[in-house]
Amino acid sequence: MDEKLQVNIGRGLLLKNPVMTASGTFGYGSEYNEFVDLNHLGGIIVKGLSLKPSKGNPPPRIVETPSGMLNAIGLENVGIDAFISEKLPFLKQFQTPVITNIYGRDMDEYAALALRVEETEGIAGVEVNISCPNVKLGGIAFGADPDSAHRVVQAVRNQTTKHVMVKLSPNVTDIVEIASGVEDAGADSLSLINTLTGMAVDIDTCCPKLANITGGLSGPAIKPIAVYMVYHTAKALDIPIVGCGGIISANDALEFIMAGASAVQVGTANLTNPQATLDVLEGIEQFMKQEGIQDISEIIGAAH
Ligand SMILES: Cc1cc2nc3c(=O)[nH]c(=O)nc-3n(C[C@H](O)[C@H](O)[C@H](O)COP(=O)(O)O)c2cc1C
Repeated sequence: MDEKLQVNIGRGLLLKNPVMTASGTFGYGSEYNEFVDLNHLGGIIVKGLSLKPSKGNPPPRIVETPSGMLNAIGLENVGIDAFISEKLPFLKQFQTPVITNIYGRDMDEYAALALRVEETEGIAGVEVNISCPNVKLGGIAFGADPDSAHRVVQAVRNQTTKHVMVKLSPNVTDIVEIASGVEDAGADSLSLINTLTGMAVDIDTCCPKLANITGGLSGPAIKPIAVYMVYHTAKALDIPIVGCGGIISANDALEFIMAGASAVQVGTANLTNPQATLDVLEGIEQFMKQEGIQDISEIIGAAH
């Protein structure tokens, strides 16, 4: 293990390097096994899981946009039980922490999911999705209001001693207000950002391009917003931050790290370059070598 790349994102969760996968863009890990040695990743965050399996939204659910994409998958997933029995055994063979992204329609579901994680060996923690713009119940309904965000995180915290990362939405007026409530509720780290709500219209049919009408915008188009939100939140709070949004290269990841992120998540880039995570990691190592940086902690939050 290369110690100079190690980062501690809270509650003793030590990542061998700062590069993780963003939920929903890396399946359950096995889908990328032929492209990426999963042992090289800092952490694997799997597709958002609910208590029961979900088919998600009807198609079309994806639209390409300039420098990005809109998705309205609507959290299609196998459900926590099938994940634990069918997907987790594969992931357990790797020396990489697995974090389950969880999503509930109400507080009780979030709590029940957290309890399943607590009881299951081989899962390092949860990423609590209170920021999905593509579902009717839960998701952003919790993440846009400081009080609801606080209560969801408290419900999760009460059920687990494992790492609790909370994924924040950019679709809010003041992200620091939400972040601070979530920190008070016992979160160990924050991940930001989830997608920005967007829409595209087909001018030939005069219809929205997505069956769901709106979707979440991701990819390089959102990177400056994400970097700003990481910088702004990191300046205001002490909790470790995991930066996400439009990272396709090491330079992008370094921007987030210098803005204050202790680790990063690579999302949409995996869909066009299945080795994006490893390319980002290799580039960070090269940059550190070239600049004589002994430890990644030297550059976390270094932007001034
Ligand atoms: C197809 C797709 C599915 C996603 N599914 C989830 C999900 O299940 N849970 C979640 O918290 N975020 C989900 N996201 C959001 C990403 O994890 C990430 O926060 C967002 O896309 C911004 O990062 P990026 O620009 O690198 O993709 C999804 C994004 C995409 C593009």
